[in-house]
Amino acid sequence: VRVELGDRAYDILIGSGLLDQIGSLIHDRLGDVRCLIVTDENVAPHYLARCKSGLPEGEKTAAIILPAGEPTKSFDHLQNVVDAALSARLERGDAVIALGGGVIGDLAGFAAGIVRRGMKFIQVPTSLLAQVDSSVGGKTGINAAQGKNLVGVFHQPALVLADTDTLETLSPREFAAGYAEVVKYGLIDDLEFFEWLEANRADLFSGAQSAQLRGEAIARSCAAKARVVAADEREGGVRALLNLGHTFGHALEGFCRYDASRLVHGEGVSIGMVLAHRFSARMNHASPDDVGRIEAHLSAAGLPTRLDQIPGEKPTAETLMEYIAQDKKVARGALTFILTRGIGQAFIAKDVPASEVHKFLAEDLGTA
Ligand SMILES: NC(=O)c1ccc[n+]([C@@H]2O[C@H](COP(=O)([O-])OP(=O)(O)OC[C@H]3O[C@@H](n4cnc5c(N)ncnc54)[C@H](O)[C@@H]3O)[C@@H](O)[C@H]2O)c1
Ligand SMILES: [Zn+2]
Repeated sequence: VRVELGDRAYDILIGSGLLDQIGSLIHDRLGDVRCLIVTDENVAPHYLARCKSGLPEGEKTAAIILPAGEPTKSFDHLQNVVDAALSARLERGDAVIALGGGVIGDLAGFAAGIVRRGMKFIQVPTSLLAQVDSSVGGKTGINAAQGKNLVGVFHQPALVLADTDTLETLSPREFAAGYAEVVKYGLIDDLEFFEWLEANRADLFSGAQSAQLRGEAIARSCAAKARVVAADEREGGVRALLNLGHTFGHALEGFCRYDASRLVHGEGVSIGMVLAHRFSARMNHASPDDVGRIEAHLSAAGLPTRLDQIPGEKPTAETLMEYIAQDKKVARGALTFILTRGIGQAFIAKDVPASEVHKFLAEDLGTA
């Protein structure tokens, strides 16, 4: 899949066995470059040696292994990656390779974007979420005390290598979480893709031909994201559609304090997409029938779809509204939301009354 961004255009290569060809794939595009591999402690034992041995300098390639998890997207670890790149004496034309999920991709991409005013960057996404979403599009960054993803730069990769074999070692829960973002692309503007997912979900998760099917699902997801990014690289307009389900989802993640034992990002997005469709139905934009169909599909994939499925303390509508207000610009009591007219017909709604969202959440939580 090609991401068409003029002189910053790049390829997303998707398939089995790509990790073993990494050296020649990089050489074809960037020539003789030296690399720093950034990875985490869950991914390193499975793939770091293979990644290194595929590179020309092999064992001499610098690598840094960071703790796994969202807290790694921090100033401290950014500094560690910057130090590693500078200590390895990498130059601007050299490359930072992100080998891992979205956490590693966002952090390593940010470091690549600022070291020597912008080094080459290569994404080797190993989680499903990273293969279909975070590795494409050039948003990089870390979290601040004030909130998620608040510090960063746009820095497009020179190449994305999505080796579908790496999904074999991903936990079923993380696989399902990434799948929520795959479903998102169908819900945004592609009913036919959603129907294809309905027909193939069981095989995608387990079936014998899953490698082939997974490759196809990932390629269609990347193509959908690449189209939107090419049309609106810096999110002035249509790129906002990619946030379907994310306003509610981010509020739920915030409420759970990003505690992965309670809720991971894709799970928040799953509940959020159902809420966005139910809210759209309530506002008479969409039919309630779609809500049931989406819920059935996501539940069958092992994803939560309702607020009461979040373990532990339950949120109140007031608390969620506070998180929503933090996530969004609230202009005179109105919110910008991604709503829908049905599966595959999402749209940007610029003046959704905050009071309606509040009422809706209160009803959904049974506290109306
Ligand atoms: N830049 C963007 O456009 C964008 C888009 C969406 C999400 N994100 C960011 O991505 C992050 C979430 O990404 P994620 O879900 O990949 O999280 P993650 O990087 O934390 O990975 C999830 C877990 O899976 C492990 N893992 C990854 N690949 C593995 C493999 N092949 N085998 C075994 N374990 C593996 C990781 O170590 C981690 O424990 C968030 O920080 C989010 O903000 C960014
Ligand atoms: Zn997301």
